[in-house]
Amino acid sequence: MNRKKIFLLSIMAVVFAARPALSQDQMKGMNMSQVPVVKAVCILYPTSGNKVTGIVIFTKTDGGVKVVADVQGLTPGKHGFHVHECGDCSAADGSSAGGHFNPGKMNHGAPMDMMRHEGDLGNLEADATGKAHLEFVDLMIKLDGPGSVIGRSMIVHEKEDDLKTQPTGNSGSRIACGVIGIGK
Ligand code: CU
Ligand code: ZN
Repeated sequence: MNRKKIFLLSIMAVVFAARPALSQDQMKGMNMSQVPVVKAVCILYPTSGNKVTGIVIFTKTDGGVKVVADVQGLTPGKHGFHVHECGDCSAADGSSAGGHFNPGKMNHGAPMDMMRHEGDLGNLEADATGKAHLEFVDLMIKLDGPGSVIGRSMIVHEKEDDLKTQPTGNSGSRIACGVIGIGK
């Protein structure tokens, strides 16, 4: 190899090493929703004046996303339970979480409806001691890709979601809020 060739090869090596890892075009399309997620966790904290706490675990399965919720400090009976648009529980009344998570621009509905908000997970049902356990596989929510629930929030409501009143299910005030994060 002559000196000129070596010189050119060294220049090429420097240029190659200095290039960005991804092109500008590739980076444009990248966001958090492209990170593969198999588990998500949400810790529920009471809003002002309430004592509702809990945990929701989301796990990707072949048939959909398995949702397991354990919540306490409730009044006995049904309580609306939704994924809301913003992962922001900063407001004392939970209003900062925004409306039901609805990337598909659908109407409010029941978990088993074809037409529903992605966030419509129906109701929790508390027993006489104020504890609720909910376990089901949801066919619509996603942990990754477009419409991922990561970075959104879970809200528990004062009243039962009637599964039909638009756009909230008429489930009253927000008694617990938590942000959905990537699980370990
Ligand atoms: Cu809600
Ligand atoms: Zn809804």
